[in-house]
Amino acid sequence: MPRITRRDLLHSGMALSASSLLARSAWGRAAAMVSGYPGAASAEALAAVAPREHLLFDAGWKFTLGNGADPAKDLGFGNGQGDFAKTGDFEFAKAKFDDSKWRTLNLPHDWAVELPFVRDEVQNSHGFKPLGRRYPETSVGWYRREFDIPATDVGRRIWIEFDGAFRDVFVFVNGCFIGRNDNGYAPFRFDLTDFLAYGKKNYIVARVDASFGDGWFYEGAGIYRHVWLTKTDALNLGKWESYVRSELAGNAATLTLGTKVQNEGKQAESARVKWQILDPAGKPVASAEAPAQSIAVDGSVTFTSTVKLANPELWSVDAPNLYQAIVTVEAAGKARDAERVSFGVRTAKFTADKGFFLNGKSVKIQGTCNHQDHAGVGAAVPDALQWFRLAVLREMGGNAVRTSHNMPTPEWVEACDRMGMMMMCETRQMSANPEGMAQLETMVKRYRNSPSIILWSVGNEENHLQGPMAEQGARIAADMVRRCHELDPTRVVSAAVNGDNEKGVSDAFDIIGFNYALNLPDKFHKEHPERPIYGSETSSAIGTRGVYSSDRLRNTINSYDGVVPWGETAEKWWMFYGTREWEAGGFAWTGFDYRGEPTPYGWPSINSQFGIVDMCGFPKDNFYYYKAWWGKDPVVHLFPHWNWEGRQGDEIPVWVYSNLDEVELFVNGKSIGSQKVPHLGHVEWKVRYEPGVIEARGSKDGKVVLTDKRETTGPTAAIRLTADRSEINADGEDVAVIKVEGLDKEGRPVPIADNHIGFTIKGNGALIGVGNGDPNCQESDKAPKRSLFNGLAQVIVQATKEPGEIQIEAHKDGWEGPNLTPATITIRTKRVESRPAVA
Ligand code: GAL
Repeated sequence: MPRITRRDLLHSGMALSASSLLARSAWGRAAAMVSGYPGAASAEALAAVAPREHLLFDAGWKFTLGNGADPAKDLGFGNGQGDFAKTGDFEFAKAKFDDSKWRTLNLPHDWAVELPFVRDEVQNSHGFKPLGRRYPETSVGWYRREFDIPATDVGRRIWIEFDGAFRDVFVFVNGCFIGRNDNGYAPFRFDLTDFLAYGKKNYIVARVDASFGDGWFYEGAGIYRHVWLTKTDALNLGKWESYVRSELAGNAATLTLGTKVQNEGKQAESARVKWQILDPAGKPVASAEAPAQSIAVDGSVTFTSTVKLANPELWSVDAPNLYQAIVTVEAAGKARDAERVSFGVRTAKFTADKGFFLNGKSVKIQGTCNHQDHAGVGAAVPDALQWFRLAVLREMGGNAVRTSHNMPTPEWVEACDRMGMMMMCETRQMSANPEGMAQLETMVKRYRNSPSIILWSVGNEENHLQGPMAEQGARIAADMVRRCHELDPTRVVSAAVNGDNEKGVSDAFDIIGFNYALNLPDKFHKEHPERPIYGSETSSAIGTRGVYSSDRLRNTINSYDGVVPWGETAEKWWMFYGTREWEAGGFAWTGFDYRGEPTPYGWPSINSQFGIVDMCGFPKDNFYYYKAWWGKDPVVHLFPHWNWEGRQGDEIPVWVYSNLDEVELFVNGKSIGSQKVPHLGHVEWKVRYEPGVIEARGSKDGKVVLTDKRETTGPTAAIRLTADRSEINADGEDVAVIKVEGLDKEGRPVPIADNHIGFTIKGNGALIGVGNGDPNCQESDKAPKRSLFNGLAQVIVQATKEPGEIQIEAHKDGWEGPNLTPATITIRTKRVESRPAVA
């Protein structure tokens, strides 16, 4: 049966109700996007090609908290008595150490999200978790695992690879200290080859210390990204050395291919490199080769080649076509190492007079800045949740994200590549010191093949380097930009600058980013007409989902597009950026609410209110402003809700976001006037409250095409559960995201419901987190219960490896309040091939 879309109905002249249809279709469409989640076929898992092995090392770790001040409570580590005296001294990383009392868990893991909230007047922007040197008992975590290395691995190079951990990590294997890492976001790896026991059990320990923070926001604690064990031949491709650059001329692309091969074996090798190019359907379409070169022991050699692609399928926001290059190093006619690089063919150009062009077509950047934590799980975001989060932003009409203010998780970038979201990829430290440069190099090398990335950012709001240290700032930024260009000559480099961009760091940038300050870009453009400009960070509008009054006692902010003093409302910034041809567009602060920065309040608020959607991804009203002016579909969104018991006769501001010509408002069937919708604006009325129905009818060319209404509901009587997907992978990793709603006895969502709901999970899955989007809620993220916040809560369940079903039952929790009819939902979990993993 052909699917009838809203567009079809529009053209048929039938009016639709936005409240029911939009809500359902938005969820449905976001879910359809999440269905693209590749699971075992993720780019990271597919990266290795035989004979290389790239094994997920996430499952079955033991964990315990240590202590940052007292060695006696920290496995004796740091007694100050020859801690590193002899290689092999560390007993906790040997067979006989007893970890039977430690908890077993799977990575990714964030222990910060499990900790209680603690009021703290010294720092109020990190989400009120007891982390830092003042909290030694909760700031250090130990991870330990036993693993087998077969005797047949002798001669291979074996690496442990962390996608990222928070924050300072010591790694030990078989009693030996292996290495350390000192930042929270860049991936790091260690060569274990010499330390392993072949044909035997091995023991790895990671001590993770979250006493120091990187940013001014919630950052989590622990091994919050994936870990891998990678095994290669002694003759191997260097890490992230393979690149594919494409240049488009007419209907053909020239691919420039490069990689580095290193010889860690015992004799010199004569090696050559081959590339096979697969089209988006996986069909081989081209190949290239670089002639043999001799590689000395412990040496490395660069190989390059080029190849032409006729009529390539371009990567774009609407058609995110991805190609793959299989890179193989051969010696003596044998494949010794190989990897798969996914890439796209596209052009991305920032101009000073006409904004941004993707594949030669003008595209406004409709972007949001985002941190990387989510309700229930903190910084340990399962891969499928990356898809969910992007689908929400995409549904709003967003076409870009900025990874503020740090290097992203690989699965976030991959989801952008596959979904057609553009990305501004940002490093954490703006510094030319070894750590800063190493983070930057890793970021550029790691992600330079991802077509979603359209620009690199070397930092955010460096007030010293932009101001009193402008001279040093100019040098530091210039060094960083130069390094980016060396590693990736195809992309522009910028940073998010809060200031006039007239001196210091800005001299070095290819394109100029303005944070806030709408008084600056026009002047800058006039004085520097040759420099492309975009909004690196804008807005900082604030609001509490479903709340329509600001209340200092409750720490709430009304949803009528409020803003902090240094920011701009959604309407204001988009009217600015959306109407200047030379502006490439911009990134609103923020897409999602995040933990920390509870501006303008403090305790007991534990998360920000800047999001266009809340911590769970539930839309605030602003979402529909963006949907109206960023999206392609007609929008009529009416707010507030119409449950104002006790306020009969009070004047209530009623707003409508719409992109139609005109909106007429009805209260209990009586028109109270029609208004033309200003371009990029909204319409509003003051309405005396009487219970019943308010309805907005949006018309185009004189015909009503879309309506939205709010009804006064009764009290909560029942619960409804809706899942983003009805079937997920039984791979021990995939998750379903479930919306929990309170309904009245007529089945209408109750917009002010705050009932306590309990959850019982049965079958082949487990609850891994709950949330409700309330910035002031200090209930546990991990307990199987949650109160509704303005009608909504969220449960995230994760599949086990056993296929079958997960049943989620929601019921009234506790004895207080009215009875609620429980609800049950079943998620099927299907048998899939798991990704290769350490047993
Ligand atoms: C910006 C900063 C962001 C966030 C935001 C809040 O200046 O770059 O990280 O703090 O302010 O408005």
